[in-house]
Amino acid sequence: MSAKILITFYSTYGHTFQLAQSVREGAEQAGAEVRLRRVAELPQAAEAMKNDENYQAAQKSMAHLEEVTHDDLRWADGIAWGTPTRYGNMAAQVKQFIDTTSPLWSKGELEDKASGVFVSTATQHGGQEATILSFHIPLLHLGMILVGSPYGQNPTLFNVSEIHGGSPYGPSTIAGGDGSLQPKEGDLIMSKRLGERLTKVATQLKSLRK
Ligand SMILES: Cc1cc2nc3c(=O)[nH]c(=O)nc-3n(C[C@H](O)[C@H](O)[C@H](O)COP(=O)(O)O)c2cc1C
Repeated sequence: MSAKILITFYSTYGHTFQLAQSVREGAEQAGAEVRLRRVAELPQAAEAMKNDENYQAAQKSMAHLEEVTHDDLRWADGIAWGTPTRYGNMAAQVKQFIDTTSPLWSKGELEDKASGVFVSTATQHGGQEATILSFHIPLLHLGMILVGSPYGQNPTLFNVSEIHGGSPYGPSTIAGGDGSLQPKEGDLIMSKRLGERLTKVATQLKSLRK
């Protein structure tokens, strides 16, 4: 039986959302039952950005998605988490949600579930790797099994003649300082492969959890 995969993300301007959709495509192609959920916005952020047209347009494009809940985490055999970087760490919206998971942590409800992270940063060296690695810390506390995205899955990543995302730690994209860049084809391929890989690993881990 194939795995149930939850893809949950926060995105201010839509770049992380684009990666999330490729992760979903990969998981579905690998046979997973998928839930795509957004992390709730914080009221302070919504207020601060109420006059930002790009923010408003991006939020509108995600408004049809349900907000992630603890039951989604319980339901999933594997979870992909997406976030834009905030000074090398996950966004506060995602941290706020993770900080509500102590009831699940105390019962070990997320232990031995597969988990991977994908990110967006403004610049090439703005936290592409640090954000994923720092995100791994709470996932390890929750007992999750980390899944990355090795380069062997996409040799084009050895191309250093153009700026692109993607590291062995997880898929990523570079949005540009003004958010005008879009994910490169390789960024989306890496995201898709994370969905596939997460599905494979989560399927195997199901037997361990029983
Ligand atoms: C408070 C704050 C801190 C940020 N810190 C960084 C940073 O350290 N490095 C970086 O490259 N981008 C940084 N950014 C830019 C975001 O990561 C960028 O807007 C995001 O990757 C776009 O993804 P999204 O479209 O999914 O929101 C920051 C943005 C904000 C609002």
